[in-house]
Amino acid sequence: MSLSRLSRFQYHRLLLVPSPSPASQLIPKCNFHQDSKFLSQTLRNHKGILYSSSFSLHTSKPGVRAVATEASSSSPKMVKAIRVHELGGPEVLKWEDVDIGEPNEGQIRVRNKAIGLNFIDVYFRKGVYKASSFPFTPGMEAVGVVTAVGPGLTGRQVGDLVAYAGQPMGSYAEEQILPANKVVPVPSSVDPVVAASVLLKGMTAQFLLRRCFKVEPGHTILVHAAAGGVGSLLCQWANVLGATVIGTVSTKEKAAQAKEDGCHHVILYTEEDFVARVNELTSGNGVEVVYDSVGKDTFQGSLECLKLRGYMVSFGQSSGTPDPVPLSALAPKSLFLTRPTLMQYVVTRDELLEAAGEVFANIASGVLKVRVNHTYPLSEAAQAHADIESRKTSGSVVLVP
Ligand SMILES: NC(=O)c1ccc[n+]([C@@H]2O[C@H](COP(=O)([O-])OP(=O)(O)OC[C@H]3O[C@@H](n4cnc5c(N)ncnc54)[C@H](OP(=O)(O)O)[C@@H]3O)[C@@H](O)[C@H]2O)c1
Repeated sequence: MSLSRLSRFQYHRLLLVPSPSPASQLIPKCNFHQDSKFLSQTLRNHKGILYSSSFSLHTSKPGVRAVATEASSSSPKMVKAIRVHELGGPEVLKWEDVDIGEPNEGQIRVRNKAIGLNFIDVYFRKGVYKASSFPFTPGMEAVGVVTAVGPGLTGRQVGDLVAYAGQPMGSYAEEQILPANKVVPVPSSVDPVVAASVLLKGMTAQFLLRRCFKVEPGHTILVHAAAGGVGSLLCQWANVLGATVIGTVSTKEKAAQAKEDGCHHVILYTEEDFVARVNELTSGNGVEVVYDSVGKDTFQGSLECLKLRGYMVSFGQSSGTPDPVPLSALAPKSLFLTRPTLMQYVVTRDELLEAAGEVFANIASGVLKVRVNHTYPLSEAAQAHADIESRKTSGSVVLVP
């Protein structure tokens, strides 16, 4: 279903669906089958209202649970991974053999099928964000199959298809060890490559639009880098929420994609003054919220685009860290300023499952069309980094081991 055909009424119904929370009643601990139940319910709630079809999740058959020792006899401890020994350009990403060991208590080992590339991987490689140890394996998003479970762990089974997004870093690897409570089940209807390309970016769009600032029908919003991985999802989702979406992009090709993704107005910010264009498009009123992931190059202009009491949501810095902002800069329009990160919005397991469930539900229902525009072999991660940094990519980028 195209986004434009999804009526506001339908979306209101979607929002009115009783929340599956308190999820703690459903999920006493981290349990794959309970998680599946939780996600199924979220998906049924969403799909049931919109399209009334059922949804199933990958689960292993009962009775095939394997323990770490069984799995270890057939699974090598040495795997290929991308390692960073020193900060720098894409060339510091080295393809090496790594011993990942066996899962300890509360952990699982996962053989990755697909790995999502995110701009945050570039920040860690360059040292904009500090890795906790060296050398390190980058990557914060992947989908894979469980190959071993730690001692005493219940609720996860060898063969389960799981996804994760966020900490711990280390997804640029054929296999990795993960805390069991950080992964979510992947619905069987969602292709693993699509799931790996969308979980982190989709949950980011979810918290930005639904929690950080709640976008509502009638709002006008500005999304920078509208054809990027997160930008594409933000535009599609905001359109369905009933907002008028203004997007900025660097090329005509990206402009065409942003239009398809539900942007009502697209500004080529490499050629046009985006502040003047937003002023024109909003008849001088400004926008309710700016979702600014570009940072240094756009931050000041973004503040100028806001209406009285508008929200400046600065959630990234693809062009560099914005200059410091004096509090007094917010006073003339009583602006709100926030610098949110996904990690603080998926702190509890309930939050994680709810956000992931909403993303998967929106993919299943067609609200979100995931653009996996670029795939690279994992061993060529350096090329993928070079391409995302030089603004050659659009939509999602996936690395395949
Ligand atoms: N706070 C959070 O929790 C959170 C979570 C996820 C992502 N993010 C942020 O969201 C942003 C988007 O992430 P993504 O992975 O989806 O990447 P992306 O948007 O696919 O790629 C970055 C885009 O930024 C734009 N850009 C503008 N100036 C740039 C410059 N000087 N160098 C490179 N790119 C520039 C480019 O789009 P144009 O060519 O159209 O200008 C480029 O395609 C990143 O800043 C990331 O850090 C934040």
